[in-house]
Amino acid sequence: MKNDKSIKVLITGAGGLTGKTATEYFKTQTNYQIFPLSRQDLDITDAIAVQKTISGLQPDFVLNCAAFTQVDLAEIKKAQCYAVNVTGVKNLATASHQTGSTLIHLSTDYVFDGAKRSPYSENDPKNPLNYYGLTKSQAEDIIPQLTSRYFIIRPAWIYGKYGNNFFKLVLKLAEENDVLKISNDQINTPTYARDLVEFIHFIIQHAQDEYGLYHFSNEGQTTRYEQAKEILKLLGKSNKIIPVDSSEFNPIAKRPPYSVLSKAKIKNKWHYPVKHWKESLHTFIKTYYDYKS
Ligand SMILES: NC(=O)c1ccc[n+]([C@@H]2O[C@H](COP(=O)([O-])OP(=O)(O)OC[C@H]3O[C@@H](n4cnc5c(N)ncnc54)[C@H](OP(=O)(O)O)[C@@H]3O)[C@@H](O)[C@H]2O)c1
Repeated sequence: MKNDKSIKVLITGAGGLTGKTATEYFKTQTNYQIFPLSRQDLDITDAIAVQKTISGLQPDFVLNCAAFTQVDLAEIKKAQCYAVNVTGVKNLATASHQTGSTLIHLSTDYVFDGAKRSPYSENDPKNPLNYYGLTKSQAEDIIPQLTSRYFIIRPAWIYGKYGNNFFKLVLKLAEENDVLKISNDQINTPTYARDLVEFIHFIIQHAQDEYGLYHFSNEGQTTRYEQAKEILKLLGKSNKIIPVDSSEFNPIAKRPPYSVLSKAKIKNKWHYPVKHWKESLHTFIKTYYDYKS
């Protein structure tokens, strides 16, 4: 990192769930200069624009929150998904390398096929089941070929204040229906966006040159059905919830039946305190909603 007073962080995809959460969070941190760029400000598929922006701003960190994240649509719009999730990441890694910026890239638990029944470590072999996961996996493989200064963080099931996410979906379904059908056949751990951003902050502050691949989600494991039950309980809502198989919703893309991520690496390396998903869900609802529990 350069010897400036403030740490410069360029945030791509700043209009999305994680991008907005990161922007809001880093704005409140002292000694940070943030450059939040939405897709309208910087299209990461445009190699020239990416190169010009990064060389112009000379950020210490490029936090890539931009992605094609619609898992089902990715099966149909493959070229568009590839352009953002692979070519876009290539552009960011190349330009970051040229300016000496560190790239912090977000990947996904969907790089795994879910055949395992114990938490996945960073070293477990990948085998994505859907096109979105394939492109995220390809980007993971390309980054180290283009720059040595990188962090790849794999979160799972992100939710928070912004964007479309499962929490918002449950809220909407509960407002519109007495009975909710929620899938109960995929086991995972949610990631509260704010916790993810705090972990990214930790890396910037304390682990600047311990580059590599890291898992980050909350602790514990659950299904969408159990998560929805907890959400409604905390909001004091009395809707009935019925657990169903995800096949009822005829998804276009396959999802891993199990993709719990092990956080052993970050816990062993830094004693990083990973919060249980229920604790973070409570915190989130207490902060932003009418908490009833
Ligand atoms: N959400 C999850 O549950 C989850 C789970 C695991 C991993 N992840 C990963 O975590 C990261 C953040 O996810 P998220 O949920 O915060 O995503 P998100 O809310 O969908 O935000 C992604 C943002 O990227 C923007 N974008 C799309 N194409 C772009 C382009 N060509 N150039 C610049 N920006 C572009 C989108 O803009 P538009 O809205 O205009 O398209 C959107 O604002 C992604 O890498 C995702 O793969 C997410």
